[in-house]
Amino acid sequence: MSNNISENFEKTRKAGSIAASALDEVTSIIKPGISTNEIDELCYNFINDNDAYSAPLYYRGFNKSCCTSTNHVVCHGVPSDKILNDGDIINVDVTAFKDGWHGDSSRMFYVGDVSVKAKKLVKITYQAMMKGIEVIKKNSSLGDIGHAIQTFVEQNGFSVVRDFCGHGIGESFHKEPNILHYGKKGDGPKLKEGMIFTIEPMINEGIYDTKTLNDGWTAVTKDKKLSAQFEHTIGITNDGYEIFTLSKKGLNFPPYK
Ligand code: MF3
Ligand code: CO
Ligand code: CO
Repeated sequence: MSNNISENFEKTRKAGSIAASALDEVTSIIKPGISTNEIDELCYNFINDNDAYSAPLYYRGFNKSCCTSTNHVVCHGVPSDKILNDGDIINVDVTAFKDGWHGDSSRMFYVGDVSVKAKKLVKITYQAMMKGIEVIKKNSSLGDIGHAIQTFVEQNGFSVVRDFCGHGIGESFHKEPNILHYGKKGDGPKLKEGMIFTIEPMINEGIYDTKTLNDGWTAVTKDKKLSAQFEHTIGITNDGYEIFTLSKKGLNFPPYK
């Protein structure tokens, strides 16, 4: 176990930048007619070419290198020969494991021309993640993050998924603490310099309830309405935070032009 904050941050920075760059590459192949397996192959190859491993592959029986969650899929969609259609929205979630450390990030993509309501959901979800990140300062608490996200999302008429949360990350893919995307100001543990965790709100157009399909992975909205998600891996610094999974190309949210 390493106890050195700057070394831990440097390793997470490397893993995070591979995950982010994989998502940058995904941008260029998303279009109607491709399969989610093609996205998976790109992620597998990109991560391997960067001397890293894809953390999802063989994780608890998962057999792909990324998650691809379309439309009413909330998270953990499994890449397959399923074809993307014009008007779909899709989340691609990538986790690189490099020199023993993880970097985890996801973004939404538009497939061709997307409805106004889908675009609004995607934009609010991105802004919600950033509002959760921006309240971070030393001695703020985990509840402040959830509160910032929930307040903003509900003001905009959408709901925050309760069944999945962000997580501590480092030498393990998922570790304590759980990062809830809803909550009360001041609740929960205080943020301390050196903590590394993800913020990855899943935001639904309708009710927040989910159910998991028979494959044991794919989580969908109970009401079959749309869901969106973005994810960054961040670290708590002396005076705020560092985002380890920023796009080097400024590809933050769609449309990626
Ligand atoms: N990347 C997801 C997360 O944000 C976890 C995926 S686990 C998998 O935590 F096995 F489905 F890949
Ligand atoms: Co995550
Ligand atoms: Co992820």
